[in-house]
Amino acid sequence: MKKILFVCLGNICRSPMAEGVMLRLIQEAGLEKEIKVDSAGTAAYHEGELPDSRMRSHASRRGYQLTHRSRPVTTDDFYDFDLIIGMDDQNINNLYKYAPSVETSQKIHRMTDYCVNMSTDHVPDPYYGGSSGFEYVIDLLEDACAGLLDSLRKE
Ligand code: 4NP
Repeated sequence: MKKILFVCLGNICRSPMAEGVMLRLIQEAGLEKEIKVDSAGTAAYHEGELPDSRMRSHASRRGYQLTHRSRPVTTDDFYDFDLIIGMDDQNINNLYKYAPSVETSQKIHRMTDYCVNMSTDHVPDPYYGGSSGFEYVIDLLEDACAGLLDSLRKE
């Protein structure tokens, strides 16, 4: 069993979207018993909220129903999960600060390092932008999650 935690700032746009994309790929591959996914934020501003309505609406156009409730990253997450995947430099720097040990900090990875077809070093925060930003986030996450699933299958 591999447990993966996707992390962004507010846990209402990028990381719940990554969770939704990865969940669908896992279900399509019949790997529900082998891989578990969750998401969290480095900040607790939106704790308990559903994903941003714009993110949910762009997601639903591609057939994803996002039902995660925002929650902050906890110290336990560093022990409970095998991979902790941040979206941008700020998320990754904060995860390194929160990691309770050197061993657990080795679980931190960058989402875009799993991209196969797209080439960039971060998943940009779409919160203050327009609809093209939300579409770009889903494009990136679909590419990166496919690469992540491939890398898990090779293990
Ligand atoms: P996320 O986007 O980190 O992808 O969930 C954001 C959500 C909320 C805020 C910033 C980014 N905010 O400032 O409230």
